[in-house]
Amino acid sequence: MAQLSSISPKEHWQQVYAARREAELSWFESVPNISLDILLTPSLHRNSPVLDVGGGASRLVDALLDRGFTQLTVLDIADTALETSKQRLGERASGVRWVAADITQWQPDRLYSAWHDRAVFHFLTTEEKRRAYRAAMEKAVAPGGIVVIGTFALDGPERCSGLPVQRYSAKSLAAELGDAFRWTATRRTEHTTPAGNVQRFQYSRFVSEP
Ligand SMILES: C[S@@+](CC[C@H](N)C(=O)[O-])C[C@H]1O[C@@H](n2cnc3c(N)ncnc32)[C@H](O)[C@@H]1O
Repeated sequence: MAQLSSISPKEHWQQVYAARREAELSWFESVPNISLDILLTPSLHRNSPVLDVGGGASRLVDALLDRGFTQLTVLDIADTALETSKQRLGERASGVRWVAADITQWQPDRLYSAWHDRAVFHFLTTEEKRRAYRAAMEKAVAPGGIVVIGTFALDGPERCSGLPVQRYSAKSLAAELGDAFRWTATRRTEHTTPAGNVQRFQYSRFVSEP
């Protein structure tokens, strides 16, 4: 795989997805149980708009469709990853909004009741990129809306897919998001990759302050 310095982030991720099948990706989950557990709060209804940021080929969209959610958007920098999900979902894909975009440059055109990100924010290793991500989040999440971010924990891997990551505790992630988002829950979890390696994650839920 080419080095990130010589190719764009989009090309990098397209190459990562081209190199492996969905179930061979290190972050593959057949059922995203922790995401569902922390995301599905009583305030979230089936008609609540939900955005999966950097959703890639994740099966969170399948699980939310199974639960009757009707306003789902999946955004990813790699449109080929979105294609994988569309192919898997078949006819059900037409009920989902698919957005091929870099989250640090994306301009939302609507408000969301929930923002979900598993293993995307931790790739933003510069303050400039994190600021752009937060700006998109502040524009996109409705007052009182939920934000769930899952990152590698402080004792998690230092790299993924050939890229360095910024690891977080619940406290450091809350500090990173700032006062606009109030922390409400955290789960620590161990993800076992298809190759059998254990990766420690931490997921936090926040509420957008009205
Ligand atoms: C480790 S994968 C996680 C995918 C998915 N969230 C999951 O849990 O299966 C990281 C994902 O983030 C996407 N990504 C990386 N940087 C991005 C960016 N700046 N904007 C949008 N998506 C991005 C990648 O294409 C990839 O799908």
